[in-house]
Amino acid sequence: TYVVTDNCIRCKYMDCVEVCPVDCFYEGENMLVINPDECIDCGVCEPECPAEAIKPDTEPGLDSWLQLNTEYSAKWPNVTIKRDPPEDVKERDGEPGKLEKYFS
Ligand code: SF4
Ligand code: F3S
Repeated sequence: TYVVTDNCIRCKYMDCVEVCPVDCFYEGENMLVINPDECIDCGVCEPECPAEAIKPDTEPGLDSWLQLNTEYSAKWPNVTIKRDPPEDVKERDGEPGKLEKYFS
């Protein structure tokens, strides 16, 4: 599966939802996540994310993100339509430690 990681938080560009063939993105206030049971591993979303926040879970060190994507995709609503990112997206892009600061 692919997973959404830290840099999505407060960036939320939402280009990913437009390309996913199985519509497996779910939306929280500040972040999107992928439902790992629905993701078919096609990989098309990864290069579409301007924040480079989407990664294959075969990359090392992503266990906690896989867990977070699994947990919150079961709680949050499905999303398939792109909206504009937040106005301060340029300041947030690349900021470290966003999970601790802003996750919701
Ligand atoms: Fe959707 Fe493919 Fe990305 Fe999985 S890898 S979330 S199926 S676009
Ligand atoms: Fe987030 Fe990137 Fe999608 S910032 S909303 S994973 S395009």
